[in-house]
Amino acid sequence: MAFTFFYRDMHTIDHTARVLIPEVSGRSKIRVWDAGCAMGPEPYTLAMTLAEEMERFSFDNLFITATDIDEQDVYGRTIHEGIYSAEEVKRIPIELFSKYFEALPTSPPTYKVINPIRDRIEFKKHDLLTLQPVGSGFSLILCKNVLLHFQPAERIEVLKMFHKSLAPDGLLATENTQKLPTELGHLFTQLMPDVQLFRREEPAS
Ligand SMILES: C[S@@+](CC[C@H](N)C(=O)[O-])C[C@H]1O[C@@H](n2cnc3c(N)ncnc32)[C@H](O)[C@@H]1O
Repeated sequence: MAFTFFYRDMHTIDHTARVLIPEVSGRSKIRVWDAGCAMGPEPYTLAMTLAEEMERFSFDNLFITATDIDEQDVYGRTIHEGIYSAEEVKRIPIELFSKYFEALPTSPPTYKVINPIRDRIEFKKHDLLTLQPVGSGFSLILCKNVLLHFQPAERIEVLKMFHKSLAPDGLLATENTQKLPTELGHLFTQLMPDVQLFRREEPAS
């Protein structure tokens, strides 16, 4: 199973949400790609964070495409069901847990993400190294703790694919230890020094 957990690296998620929300507010379709989402804690954390800060109209127009190579074919079902164990949900701040999860009558106890959050996320099985994007016009691509598994040349090609898949003003967020390869400096601008949050640039033709 992939290493991931709810409310991981909120420094990056919070800063990303703070930049994204005013820019996309009021749009009729807000497309986000969570690439390498594992079994769902990351896209659900993003959705819950955005639900806290976005007004209702924008949140209802949010479409998160969560993708993973999902070698064991298990993440899709987990994300679709949105059911997690007590161990998996233990890091979620209590007030958010109470708001966004319902306890199921199971033994051992399990907890289900409520429908308004689940409805915002669609899972697709997808291998980033095919370099075939799952869509275009994304306002945000979140790809954390995935690129480090790739060879440097593969990383560059995947980042170029992200660049093409982003809307002109789109954002890319990665984990803090993932520095942007210098070869791609013309494609992305880092927005703040202590967060790996980038804006897509239009390369000079
Ligand atoms: C360490 S987990 C990161 C999960 C989540 N993004 C996070 O930061 O908590 C890495 C994920 O990358 C996925 N992955 C690895 N190679 C991939 C590929 N070629 N295409 C898509 N996903 C891949 C793995 O299946 C795994 O779920």
